[in-house]
Amino acid sequence: MASADILSRNDIIDLITAYAGSERVPPKFKIITDTSDFYRVDYNDVVLLADTAFWVKRCEKEGRFGIDEQPKYWVRRAIDLQTGATKILKLVFHEKFDTKIGDIVIKCFRSPKKEARLLDLVAGHDQFMHGTWTLDSAGNIIRILDFIYGRTFDQLLDELGNDHHDYFHNHFPKLLTHYRELVRAIKFLHDHGEKHGDIRRDHIILDRERQIYRWIDFDYNYMHGESMFGFDLHGLGNILIFLVGRGDILTHDLYHQQRPLFDSLWGEDLNISYKNRVANLEKIFPYIPASLNRVLLHFSQGAKIFYETTDQMLADLAIAQDDVATVTGRTS
Ligand SMILES: Nc1ncnc2c1ncn2[C@@H]1O[C@H](COP(=O)(O)OP(=O)(O)O)[C@@H](O)[C@H]1O
Ligand SMILES: [Mg+2]
Repeated sequence: MASADILSRNDIIDLITAYAGSERVPPKFKIITDTSDFYRVDYNDVVLLADTAFWVKRCEKEGRFGIDEQPKYWVRRAIDLQTGATKILKLVFHEKFDTKIGDIVIKCFRSPKKEARLLDLVAGHDQFMHGTWTLDSAGNIIRILDFIYGRTFDQLLDELGNDHHDYFHNHFPKLLTHYRELVRAIKFLHDHGEKHGDIRRDHIILDRERQIYRWIDFDYNYMHGESMFGFDLHGLGNILIFLVGRGDILTHDLYHQQRPLFDSLWGEDLNISYKNRVANLEKIFPYIPASLNRVLLHFSQGAKIFYETTDQMLADLAIAQDDVATVTGRTS
């Protein structure tokens, strides 16, 4: 039986009334079972998946470093009208693009199937978003995600510490502990032959209610060539550089504000993926332990070797955390 046969328009109006009150029932709305053309899904429409009605609200946005806040028409906030829970419906969007690490071009593509598979894999793992998936009437794999309330990793640092020294000594040790837990979560994926695919600081949310850091967005995949996990590890490295620096340390800012430091830098000190960011942070903040800085240098333009596995990185991070404890007097 098609889902539209299960819930009639009147049933849906009753559900909206029960959830929001009769005055908020939209005078006009579409009932959508085929989401192939996701631009057709408007605010206040209802998407029917199996026997569940989702009342569609806003599009999610993603500010990549605060610039392009484009609405993502394929990522919709929606209310499950049976339970009242807020969900995210992730609709099928096929996209392919190339990205670069140094001179290496990596072919990336979206795979709804991969995200669905990962949702099943991480269902019992607290450090990932949770959710289910189903097929719409046209066979599109729709991911139904539990909405995590909280701020992303990149929004949390600003208010920690008065300056870098204060931040590094009083807040960073604890963040490093959390960061290592997040790396261990990625190891869990890798140990199961999976990759995250889009490791970025705004793909980690500090769950406000449960006070745990959780990874989101698993639908990117990439052609991995020789190093299956290399791209994920680069993502992890970029986040660590950001955490250690209490934000990006940009060559442009140094040039204008701390010229002697700028003059001390070589090309090899810069981030291999983002050439305007400093990776060799010991040059900027001399109290950073050498063992921690050595981890960062794996992600610099001067790197001779890269991490191939999370285990290699985790082993170095354990040593770094001990040295951070010695320098700061804080174990976590
Ligand atoms: N489970 C979730 N809980 C809360 N917000 C989420 C969740 N999943 C996605 N988002 C929000 O929606 C945005 C876009 O979703 P994402 O899965 O990253 O889509 P895309 O694959 O297009 O980047 C995220 O950056 C985040 O702000
Ligand atoms: Mg994303």
